[in-house]
Amino acid sequence: MDINKKFFAKHKIAIVTNRAPVSPITRSNSTIIQRSIGGLVAALEPLIGQFDGAWFCTVSKTSKLAKISLDHLPYKVIPLELTDVELAKYYEGYSNKQLWPLFHYFQMHCIFDKDDWEMYKAVNERMADLILRNVEEDHFIWIHDYHFMLLPKILRKRNPKLKIGFFLHTPFPNQEIFRVLANSAELIQGLLGADLIGFHTKQYVEHFINCAKMLIPDMDKELNQNILIYNGRKIKVGNFPISIDYEYISKKASSEKVVKKSGKLRAAYQSEFVGISVDRLDYTKGILERLNAIECFFEKYPQYLKKVTFLQISVPSRTKVDTYQELKRKVDETIGRINGKFSKNGWRPIFYIYSTLAFDELLAHYLMSDLMLVVPLRDGMNLVAKEYIASNLSSHGVLILSEFAGAIEELKDALHVNPYHSELVADAIKQAIEMPVEEKTLRMHHLREKVKANDVYNWINRYFTSFNEIVQENKKSSKVC
Ligand code: UDP
Ligand code: G6P
Repeated sequence: MDINKKFFAKHKIAIVTNRAPVSPITRSNSTIIQRSIGGLVAALEPLIGQFDGAWFCTVSKTSKLAKISLDHLPYKVIPLELTDVELAKYYEGYSNKQLWPLFHYFQMHCIFDKDDWEMYKAVNERMADLILRNVEEDHFIWIHDYHFMLLPKILRKRNPKLKIGFFLHTPFPNQEIFRVLANSAELIQGLLGADLIGFHTKQYVEHFINCAKMLIPDMDKELNQNILIYNGRKIKVGNFPISIDYEYISKKASSEKVVKKSGKLRAAYQSEFVGISVDRLDYTKGILERLNAIECFFEKYPQYLKKVTFLQISVPSRTKVDTYQELKRKVDETIGRINGKFSKNGWRPIFYIYSTLAFDELLAHYLMSDLMLVVPLRDGMNLVAKEYIASNLSSHGVLILSEFAGAIEELKDALHVNPYHSELVADAIKQAIEMPVEEKTLRMHHLREKVKANDVYNWINRYFTSFNEIVQENKKSSKVC
């Protein structure tokens, strides 16, 4: 698949995210620029170079990124520079201590602080100023994620003619959870400034519409359609499951470099079966629960001691937030404890990498693994699961997938598990290991077909078709008025 060349050749796109598309990484005393980690950047960064695009993001005034020239990138990066105090309140505070935990149903990790909300509003306003100084009316402004939920309304107020799309990369919670926020109605009003509001799944769309109906009494909804009517404008709400570049990943995974690397890695593990997990070190990903499931697996099925090894790749994330620091301590301790309990004659049950891998290296790890455990307690989508599928050239890999990942709506042929119950996950691991090769191949074949058909191009093309339609519809009705 490809982007809709006809459409993108004619239109200018402004992407707005908190995270910059690239981050500086220091390796052996030199600093290189690498694509930033996370599903949002993984999906958008390879696309933006293919059309006339500008990328608005935030950067810390004191970071290396603020000092490096990004002129060599195939798109323009327009950063909003923030001080450490601004970031502590808007990013670490409101975004990551209120919105992120609540949207993932981790109410107990929320810290409600009024000052953080004030700073969140101020940063949304400042981003609006920056955008308005740099875009023209014919730009499609595409705002991403929970860091900028007020931005659509701010922009709309300043220029009603703008074309504004929003896409949320996290789950959108049900109304009982969402209304816990002190500013829930303002956030919904913020989003209603957009023409199109996109989510990954039908369930998140439903949750959003229910919240909007409850919190904004003067809002209307078209019968049997996900079109809301507010302040005389139509707002379309839709599900657009994000995805990956299937062709690119399959091709890269079959390259000589990656295949060679994966063979070397596999030999180093000296186990009959290797299971893998890859995630940012985040409490939503269910890392501790998964480690408990691995412990339960070896206790319940000791015949697999010395035969199965698990590799946990954890990418450092949001390291200034206390809950993330605490999680790191717990993960280190738990892995140490489990390895202490079961290791024997040079074999150990869990290998742990706490670092960011380059994409080639990551693919080599996917390729050498017999099974992948994607067992988040809650996840908007999860692209790692789709990347594992695209790189599974032999079709002999098994994907164990949490019922609480957005990807579950599409990936029906994975082994589905409830990640809260270690014994159930342990049993799924055994099932994956003992699965007849014909069943593995059939399941993986179906999964590959699905991801291939719904790749990242499909995602962006569908989103922009809807975006353009609703913009045209609103334009027509404003002329009639
Ligand atoms: N990733 C990476 N290097 C790593 C680990 C992860 O490039 O060492 C990428 C991975 O390829 C994927 C993204 O990080 O595209 C994670 O996205 P996902 O949707 O799974 O989770 P998120 O981090 O957005 O919650
Ligand atoms: C998730 C969020 C993204 C975020 C990424 C990495 O994928 O949806 O908005 O960029 O995590 O988190 P970070 O806080 O490091 O940007």
